[in-house]
Amino acid sequence: MSDRKYIAKEEIERQMTLADRLYAEIQPRCLKFYVETFGCQMNVRDSETIKGILARCGYTECAEKETADLILFNTCCVREHAEKRLMGNIGALREQKESNPGLIVGICGCMMQQDGIAKKLLRRFPHVSLVFGPNVVFRLPEMLGAVLSGERIALTDEEDFAIAENLPRIRDNSRSAFVNITFGCNNYCTYCIVPFVRGRERSRSMEDIRKEAESLCASGITEITLLGQNVNSYGNDLEAGSFAELLDKLNFVPGLKRLRFMSSHPKDLTNEVIAAIARNDRVCHHVHLPVQSGSNAILKRMNRKYTREQYLEIIRKLRDAVPDVEFTTDIIVGFPGETEEMFRETLSLVEEVGFAAAFTFAYSPRVGTAAASMHDQIPEDVKKRRLYELNALQAEKTVENNKKYIGYEGEVLIEGCDERTDETMLYGKYRNFKMVYFPGKPEEVNQYRNVRVLSLSRNSLIGERIDG
Ligand code: 5AD
Ligand code: SF4
Repeated sequence: MSDRKYIAKEEIERQMTLADRLYAEIQPRCLKFYVETFGCQMNVRDSETIKGILARCGYTECAEKETADLILFNTCCVREHAEKRLMGNIGALREQKESNPGLIVGICGCMMQQDGIAKKLLRRFPHVSLVFGPNVVFRLPEMLGAVLSGERIALTDEEDFAIAENLPRIRDNSRSAFVNITFGCNNYCTYCIVPFVRGRERSRSMEDIRKEAESLCASGITEITLLGQNVNSYGNDLEAGSFAELLDKLNFVPGLKRLRFMSSHPKDLTNEVIAAIARNDRVCHHVHLPVQSGSNAILKRMNRKYTREQYLEIIRKLRDAVPDVEFTTDIIVGFPGETEEMFRETLSLVEEVGFAAAFTFAYSPRVGTAAASMHDQIPEDVKKRRLYELNALQAEKTVENNKKYIGYEGEVLIEGCDERTDETMLYGKYRNFKMVYFPGKPEEVNQYRNVRVLSLSRNSLIGERIDG
């Protein structure tokens, strides 16, 4: 694997020059693109860059797949169902390609980094002509040029996981933005495909991150979410700089009101990070802290490098330092070797912590990961039943958590509105990630309002404005 940390500036410039040349050809033809994103925020962020490059190449975005001249699926391979869905989606485009032979169908994202899949997809789907991995997005102008002149391209470049700075981007919203701080992952949790498809962990320089945050906020963004597979290990590969220092620095970016981050790995959530969350007023009081399991035996087999007790200790310390902090988590049930008793330990941890929300998954074996070849795999029906039981418990805990909020007052960033009811209901989040609904006008979306919680409705908080 190459040690090159950044893609050379000259290479990025070369790609942008190619994009500008394509613009002259594509823009007059009014060609349109449609990008569909699967998976996590990392992919959402990658899609923003992909859209930015496509716009630079002369395409405009369209809302309907049916009217597009270029359709791109940005894929995920973290869990199995995403793959099945993708295959269905690609198959369904066969007819559209027949009626519009100029249509370009492309597939990109993590799944394309899996062994041999890129070439396999080209063979299986003759109507697909562009396949590439997440680390070569910057070469899209070059790839597109080749595809437009009739080639079929599969580029995954497994050797190179260097960082590409200064690529164009199109953001979906004007209020919040994602900012990558690390790429890749070194942790090798035994169930997880990410280290294989996203490469080793690389941190962007603190300067590049600060500059990006400043330019986002100068353009009106007030909420930034820092993204990394494990934000807490930010800087481990740099000569200087840690996640705590990064929070200290970004806290003072002019115009920034809310600084969020995800995901945190419990093994690296140190006292310094806790102190940095507590002392920086822009840092939001929400920690997404994937626990994965409540059983020490399973955590060990997962290679998570913390125990249940250590996890609970971090929760306690964070609650001491930041009293209104809320936690969300990820949990996997049915990991190989998980006995009924071990599963009950996960339930008891969920009971004990009281997460605001949990993203729960049935374990799905990923080819190439250590857990996929563990011999004591759990039958699907057992996984399903455990997932159901866990979700039922978390639903109760969510309602319990919501009850604490009756009478709560705080500032909400409005994310959207729901006009289906008699009255327009706005929704948005408090700083600690709790969502609240309250009456208002659609023009208020993206604004901040002070809201008091009045009641609960199923899983939601219902409130009223208290600032006139
Ligand atoms: N099976 C089930 N869930 C998985 N996750 C990651 N890999 C797998 C897998 N093989 C879940 C983890 C992770 C989240 C993003 O996806 O809980 O935190
Ligand atoms: Fe996967 Fe573990 Fe890395 Fe998260 S920390 S991306 S679960 S290997």
